[in-house]
Parts: sequence; C-alpha cells; structure tokens
Amino acid sequence: MLDVAGFDLNAIDSAFIEAPYTTLAELRRSSPVHRNPDGSVYLTRHDDCLATYRSRDMLSDKAEAFGAKFGECPLKVHHTTSLIFNDPPYHTVVRKLIAEAFTPRKLAEMERLIERIVNRLLDRVEDLGELDLIADFAMMLPTEIISFMLGVPEAYRAKLRGYSIAILGALDPVVPQARMEAGNRAVEEFGAILSDLIDHRRCNPDAAGEGEVLEALIFGEYNGRRLTQEELVQNCIFLLNAGHETTTSLVGNAIATFLDHPDQHRRLLDDPSLIGTAVEECLRFESPLQIGNRLAGEEIVLPSGMTLPKGTYIHTSIAGANRDPAVFDDPDRFDIARKPNPHIAFITGIHVCLGASLARMEGKIALGRFFERFPKLAADGPRERLGLARFRGYTSLPIRVR
Ligand code: HEM
Repeated sequence: MLDVAGFDLNAIDSAFIEAPYTTLAELRRSSPVHRNPDGSVYLTRHDDCLATYRSRDMLSDKAEAFGAKFGECPLKVHHTTSLIFNDPPYHTVVRKLIAEAFTPRKLAEMERLIERIVNRLLDRVEDLGELDLIADFAMMLPTEIISFMLGVPEAYRAKLRGYSIAILGALDPVVPQARMEAGNRAVEEFGAILSDLIDHRRCNPDAAGEGEVLEALIFGEYNGRRLTQEELVQNCIFLLNAGHETTTSLVGNAIATFLDHPDQHRRLLDDPSLIGTAVEECLRFESPLQIGNRLAGEEIVLPSGMTLPKGTYIHTSIAGANRDPAVFDDPDRFDIARKPNPHIAFITGIHVCLGASLARMEGKIALGRFFERFPKLAADGPRERLGLARFRGYTSLPIRVR
C-alpha cells in the first residue's frame, strides 16, 4: 500500500505529475484532509471540496500568499489583479462585466463561428494526415475564439500558448527560478501588447466586432465603477489564458484518453449522440485544471468531520474529487455514457467558471466533428506532457488520421 503520511504537495515530483491518481486515491482513503508541512491542507474528497467551494467564508484573495511566493514583480501584479484571485466587491465588478460576453444570445452567435473554424481546421488535418494534435488542432480553436473575443490580431496569436504556460506555470506548487523569470517576462510582454490594444479600442469603439468582450470591459460599468487600465490589462491576460489553455487541454486530453480506450472510441463512433456525455466524462476523467485554492476566512467544518480553523490555506484536489468512489461508480473507468456525472471540473460557488458553456460547446463541436470525419485514429509517436501539477495537458500529441 502506498504510504502518503509524508506526502507534501509543495514538494511533488514529475512522477506525481505524470500519474497522480493512485496517490490521490490513497490520500482520499487514508488522509482526506491532508496536512502539508507548511500547515496548508489538501482536500481530495468530493464533498469536502464542494463544501469549500460553496462556502461564502472561503476566500480567493491571494495578496498575502502571492506576496510571499512572488515578491514584488509583474507576476504578483498580474495574479493579484485578475478576478479569479479576488473576493467581492472587486470580484463582482469584473465578473459582471465579463459575464456580458456569455449570455445565451452571444453563445448562440459563437456556435456558428466555432463550426466555421472547426471545419476549416479539419480540412487542414485532412491535408496533413499526420499531425501534432495539440499544435495543429486542439490549440487553434480556443486561441481563435478567445482572441476574437478580446480583439487580439492574428499576428499575436501564435505567442499566446507560450505566454499562458509561462504565466499559469508560476501557479504550480513547485516553481523553478527559470520558470518564475519566464512568467515575469511573459506578463510584461503580453501586458504591453494588450495595453496597446486597449488604447486602440478606446479610440476606435466602433471597430469592435460582434461578440467582442473587450469593448464591454473597457466601457462597461458596474455600480458606477469602471476598470482601470491596469485592471483591464491584467484581466484580459487572465481571460486569454483561461479561455484557451484549459480548452486546449480538454480537447488534447480527450483524444489521448480515446487513444488509450479504443472500446470507448468505437462506442462513440457507433453512437455519435453520446458526444455530450463523452465531453463531460473527459472533463471528469482528466480535468484540465486539477488543483484550486481557498483561504478559510472563518472556521469551516468539513463534511468528512474535520474542522479547519480560520486562516487555514486550503488546496482543493479537483482531480481527486472527480475520482471519488463515494460519488462515481468505478471512478477509474472511462465511461462516455456516465450519467449522472457531477464532476467539478468547472468548480461551483461564486467563482464557478464563466466560460463553462463556451468550453463545453467548443469541446462538443471540435471532438464531435473530428470523430465524424476521422474515424481512424492512431498514435504516431510519444506524447509530451505539460509538466505542471495544476494544469493537466500535453504540449505534443502526435497522431495519424488515415
Ligand atoms: C475546459 C475548459 C475550462 C475549464 C476546465 C475551466 C475551469 C475553471 C475553473 C476550475 C475555474 C475556477 C477557479 C477557482 O476559482 O478556483 C474557472 C474560472 C474561470 N474561468 Fe474557466 N475553465 C475552462 C474554460 C474557460 C473558458 C473558455 C473561459 C473564457 C472564455 C473561462 C473563463 C473563466 C473565468 C473568467 C473564470 C473566473 C471566474 C471567477 O473568478 O469568478 N474558462 N475556470
């Protein structure tokens, strides 16, 4: 039996990143509210994570934690200004402004755009025959969509994944110095590009395309409050990262999982109407975002019986919760018809993912059309994993489609 008594989330290695689920299962069984040496706790049960996300007393503000982690630098400014790491009232202002872009009407318009982009990308996949699924397909759709929403011109799009991995990589529990420096450089460069785009849109509001969120962020007001230039820049960086990195991994992880489960691949080809539940199962089975954090603003009594005092720093294992046998039958089985499937890949509570409907739509169209056109899917070389614990995905996934 795996011994997890000495497990330290702040000292995890590449073996954990490669294959976290056995360790998570043992933590969930024998140490579900696991105390790390720095005093923080790591929750791996579904009900404990859910209770944490649902409580209004659990805070997302990371000014103190990121001050200690980053010191004064662009990464600290970025992460402490983006809505995800803030509480109301600032969080509410930014969230309301961004939410304008995700109304059902806007999403319906997005659907047509997604279909067009996917069809075009699949024509290219057909021409290529052998390709890197990440670079040649998975990354392209979410990058185009979120760039369109933020008015980012095509010339900059190729740089987006590099920026986002550098910036999001700095959130991992263990961050080497070189990654910290790359993250700081990325915030500076990306910030300068976005600041210019914002200035340009401020002077040319009429040039905004239908469905563009940038305009709503610049000119929108909530409770008489507009965003400052710094708040705009940092929240645009966040949105660009949130909008494409996780969705790239949804599509990449899904194709990798189907390659590993040919029976489920066959099942989907035989019954394409399973695409909706298949996307949910992919989100559960290989959640693109695996770890969240909250600070206990008040004492919390967890469903598993443990009481955490005010001031406790909490890591929630989304990946652990999504494989909890108390909620999911045979949780390590990939079952594309699983129902119900109350996974928390998008979490819940006041920070529930604003892009969940968009991500689901992108996933369904991208994967559904892909399998329709290319039923013959095969691996074409070794995969390269994105070496992060918080974000689960691949940097390269060579495949053949004929
Ligand atoms: C499969 C794809 C995605 C996954 C798995 C995902 C997951 C998540 C999760 C877990 C959170 C909550 C983090 C926390 O508070 O601890 C979150 C927040 C957020 N996501 Fe997503 N996301 C995805 C796609 C998207 C897309 C496509 C967009 C936008 C275009 C987006 C925009 C946001 C925003 C704005 C927040 C912050 C919400 C807030 O703090 O109130 N996400 N996402």
